[in-house]
Amino acid sequence: MEYWQEINKNLKPWVDTDLNKTVIDLFAGCGGLSLGFEANGFKTIGYEMDENASKTYNKNLLGTCVTGKLTPESIYPKADIVIGGPPCQPFSVGGKQLGLQDSRDGFPIFLAAIRQLNPEVFMFENVRGMLYKNKSYLKEVIEALEKLGYYVDYALLNAVNYEVPQNRERVIVLGSKQKIKLPNPIHKTITAGAALGSLAFDFDEDSKFFTASMDRYVANYEKASKCINPRDLYLDKPARTLTCRNLAGATGDMHRVKLKDGRRRRLTIREAARLQSFPDWFEFQGTETQQFNQIGNAVAPNFAFHLAKNIKAHLMGASTEDYSTRAFQQLKLFEHEAVSTFR
Ligand SMILES: C[S@@+](CC[C@H](N)C(=O)[O-])C[C@H]1O[C@@H](n2cnc3c(N)ncnc32)[C@H](O)[C@@H]1O
Repeated sequence: MEYWQEINKNLKPWVDTDLNKTVIDLFAGCGGLSLGFEANGFKTIGYEMDENASKTYNKNLLGTCVTGKLTPESIYPKADIVIGGPPCQPFSVGGKQLGLQDSRDGFPIFLAAIRQLNPEVFMFENVRGMLYKNKSYLKEVIEALEKLGYYVDYALLNAVNYEVPQNRERVIVLGSKQKIKLPNPIHKTITAGAALGSLAFDFDEDSKFFTASMDRYVANYEKASKCINPRDLYLDKPARTLTCRNLAGATGDMHRVKLKDGRRRRLTIREAARLQSFPDWFEFQGTETQQFNQIGNAVAPNFAFHLAKNIKAHLMGASTEDYSTRAFQQLKLFEHEAVSTFR
């Protein structure tokens, strides 16, 4: 079976009545992270202020997404697990990195939810930028969570190591009352070609091609940045990171497939979704730009699937993972940090 066929088959929401756990997903977006949990049998409830992202969630997942803006005062129903991707604008390397001072900061909201719900497990993800100027802020957030009685494991993980056809590094922080560790990588590289299958070649002439001015722009961009490998999609490798900007914004960095005749074709919504490991039955809502934004913002569902599977195995007392050696690099946020042990 092809990779994308396996995704279509495996990433299906269902409810495991033996597990019987409810997950609250804060800043749920279109539900990429939630899908990974639902495909393991968790029940989910999402919270998202973007109407179209919330519509996408409600169309595809079993759980309900509540549309509205969260604040530290928000009240939630009872839940066993809290997950989320607090807004990352304050932390992206391109942004101003204002951290706590940024009014768009989602961490006070996330911390308030943990205090209110006292869940068995929590998990949040964020962009790599959180490790630069905001490293001390990440440390502060982790310390606050430890004070609430959680063992916290955290690492910079790459979705490409969890059966996703894309290099996508994210800071993942996992907290639990019973010392759950992040899962070790699966050593199986999935290429962009395996994910796209015939889509890469079966395009029609209505597809969006780069215009002559975009081609000139790309040529200038590549010359100016002394680019040795053009930023076209290579079907024999995993894709580079998909972002809202490089999917929807017409920039030199834009994702595209270079055809044999030299033309460059922009990725379609379905191709971008495949490179993020969304199944084909998953339908995005809103305009094309809004759909690209939902895809670019999402946690790759198959990465989320592996993170959720690991949590489930622990909760069901069935974990067989050997964590005695870390197969990924430990982040150094704290002095005297020991590798592969909790502090
Ligand atoms: C990085 S995206 C989350 C992606 C999601 N985890 C997924 O896997 O699809 C962050 C989301 O937070 C939402 N958001 C930001 N601030 C919010 C707030 N105060 N209340 C509710 N949603 C918010 C944004 O609209 C955006 O969709």
